Amino acid sequence: MKTIRELEIAGKRVLIRVDFNVPLDENGNITDDIRIRMALPTLRYALENKARVILCSHMGRPKGKRVPEYSLAPVAKALSTILNQDVRLAPDCIGAETEGLVGQMGDGDIILLENLRYHEEEQANDPEFSRQLASLADVYINDAFAVSHRAHASVVGVTESVPEKAAGFLLEKEMDYFHRSMDEPVRPLVAIVGGAKVSSKLGALENMLGKVDLMLIGGAMANTFLKSQGLDVGASKVENDLLDTAGRFLAAALTKGVKVYLPVDVIVADTFSPDAVTRTVPVNEIPESWMALDIGPESLKIFTQALADAGTVIWNGPMGAFEMDAFASGTMELARAIASSEALSITGGGDSNAAVKKSGQADKISYMSTGGGAFLMLMEGKTLPGVDALGVD
Ligand code: 3PG
Repeated sequence: MKTIRELEIAGKRVLIRVDFNVPLDENGNITDDIRIRMALPTLRYALENKARVILCSHMGRPKGKRVPEYSLAPVAKALSTILNQDVRLAPDCIGAETEGLVGQMGDGDIILLENLRYHEEEQANDPEFSRQLASLADVYINDAFAVSHRAHASVVGVTESVPEKAAGFLLEKEMDYFHRSMDEPVRPLVAIVGGAKVSSKLGALENMLGKVDLMLIGGAMANTFLKSQGLDVGASKVENDLLDTAGRFLAAALTKGVKVYLPVDVIVADTFSPDAVTRTVPVNEIPESWMALDIGPESLKIFTQALADAGTVIWNGPMGAFEMDAFASGTMELARAIASSEALSITGGGDSNAAVKKSGQADKISYMSTGGGAFLMLMEGKTLPGVDALGVD
């Protein structure tokens, strides 16, 4: 993958697609700036090399309307502080005023364009909108791994009209870590997959089956697998239409010699609420009308042991309803177990990363991806449209 290092950028207008879709609180304060910090190596490199840096990003899903809550203004402010340099927010991402502001930039200046998704043409990958964006730049850099699974104008369309294009350092790093963990892993390679639905992870599970040595499945999706094996899971969330698929998946794992560990005990609750009555039970004793909301201590012991010898660990999805303290211990303890293993460890997706952070062990994880959907798409064995669009040279 060609990177910004290989391009001549001094004095040039460098349009950098970043993913500054950061969480904001009700007062518009950024509650997690990791996506901004992870883009800094590329931004600093471009500024030090005297490029005219034009940043573009989306924020939220304003559906083509100028919704003030989705303005990138808080990001421009935060970035000005971090870089100790004025980062002006353009009122729009295309149009005469934006072109005028870009035209006035000097070498080493930086500007942030307003939310791309204020225009519905962004998500439609509209050719004319893409051309207008491209006309702002001499060089295009994609450093937005987390949105590279979207074939949007600023990720894909724009690449057709810019004179030169390449990846930024964050995109390069994300792809490197992913390939190291999936294509050239130190074995055993252990995948931990959790979350609510089998349906949203099916592609990833099937692709991983051909690559991993061991798989740990937790979260509500484990219920569907347990039920496919004839267990009664009470009132737990189950995708009944996927029972056959889940059964076939487990049979295929057996044939391939991949060990799949499901929970052997769970924490069940009488209602889906933080103050529910809870009990820990083996998976074959889930009471009728109770629901499994976390893995139990025995499961955790087995999962932790499985991780002890791992050479590589890749994790996506929580083990339970960890947003409620009563059902957080499985996910938190697993985060601690991954952190204390010697393995190369990669986590992706907002929930897994939030759990790692909450456990206070983030610095012991080899790499926490900034991507959710993009990370999952790589787990599915697919190529990201945004990476594809950069070409092979
Ligand atoms: C994300 O937060 O996963 C990315 O910014 C992509 O956002 P989207 O799911 O709204 O396209």
